[in-house]
Amino acid sequence: MDIDDILLYDETVFKNIDAFNPDYIPKHFPHRKSQMEALAICIRPALRNGRPVNAVVLGSCATGKTTAIKKIFENVQKTSDKVICVYINCQIHTTRFGVFSQIYQRIFGHTPPETGVPFSRIYQNIMQHLSSHDQALVVALDDINNLFYKKNANKIFYDILRAHEAFEGVRTGVFAILSDIEFRFVLDKNVNSIFIPQEIIFNPYTRKEMEDILKERAKIGFYSDVISDELLDEITEYASSSGDLRVGIDLLRISGNLAEADASKTIEKKHVEEALKSTGSINLTYTLKSLSDDEKVLLDIIRQSEDDLIAGNLYNAFRKKMDSSYASFNRILNKLEFLRLVDTQFTGKGVKGNSRIVILRFDPEEIQKCMNSI
Ligand SMILES: Nc1ncnc2c1ncn2[C@@H]1O[C@H](COP(=O)(O)OP(=O)(O)OP(=O)(O)O)[C@@H](O)[C@H]1O
Ligand SMILES: [Mg+2]
Repeated sequence: MDIDDILLYDETVFKNIDAFNPDYIPKHFPHRKSQMEALAICIRPALRNGRPVNAVVLGSCATGKTTAIKKIFENVQKTSDKVICVYINCQIHTTRFGVFSQIYQRIFGHTPPETGVPFSRIYQNIMQHLSSHDQALVVALDDINNLFYKKNANKIFYDILRAHEAFEGVRTGVFAILSDIEFRFVLDKNVNSIFIPQEIIFNPYTRKEMEDILKERAKIGFYSDVISDELLDEITEYASSSGDLRVGIDLLRISGNLAEADASKTIEKKHVEEALKSTGSINLTYTLKSLSDDEKVLLDIIRQSEDDLIAGNLYNAFRKKMDSSYASFNRILNKLEFLRLVDTQFTGKGVKGNSRIVILRFDPEEIQKCMNSI
């Protein structure tokens, strides 16, 4: 097709292309009933003039944490004005002012001026509003690790959770959301004593669950008969082996785009194969970008090693580079496994048969290439 044909070509395989956007909120949200209930239980007291329960929401990437929070907040806002729910993306808003501007905006409908108004005034306006309207406040801090990297977490927690000390009767809560296995950040003593959260775990999806979700997404996004069951199955298999549902959704979208570029009314095997080539490395780069320095060092040692690695030997190599205890080494190794960058298997040998071998799940050269690109 020439350029004009491409631009004016109005046949499309997409019934609703938004369904493949990263911020699309699906109406139907299967396999997350218990987590949604747990979130509702945390908010419930606030609807009855009590205090919301603080929560930590944990789980690997693309397990539906952000979606769950947004859906539950939407639900609450539809049914009651007794609670103000504010969702904050801490990748974007990393400062105390940034976070409170978002809360202010949610309450007053516009952001506060960036200059000329002291923080204390903005804070006061927010808390006085809550107090005089007898409304509770629940703040979801998504990807909260960013607040810790920038060292802003303690102040923000303190400001939100201890508001009742200066503003009588104000009821506030925090949902901290993190793509990890545990909440391993340490808060200051005076925050720790008031942030005793309920843990809500988003366990990884099984292959069957991914299949359900991807099938449904394809149904919403594509016209009927655009993609065959076999190709959907291939995409599901790939998403499931990478442990990342988002990979499956991306593959659907890219395959659709490639089919359109080919002026094809259906997605063919070659489109999926072409799409697969691009998503693998995008996904790996994304994961590598999220690693901390010590996680990168350990991955680098694993990448450069020639044979199967015994965890004990690996620790010795790691200790030479980073001053680390075995416990923190173990935690870093578990994190790499959790991110599905490595597999570990018990060998049955060693003390109590606890010795593990570590196997890299990606081609070492591919890892190096992606590392260089970030
Ligand atoms: N149960 C589900 N049903 C339908 N779609 C889902 C479900 N769980 C996740 N998704 C979809 O998967 C994608 C990732 O979900 P989401 O962004 O909520 O995950 P997350 O746990 O916040 O990931 P991250 O840790 O990377 O922030 C989104 O497109 C979302 O619509
Ligand atoms: Mg998220």
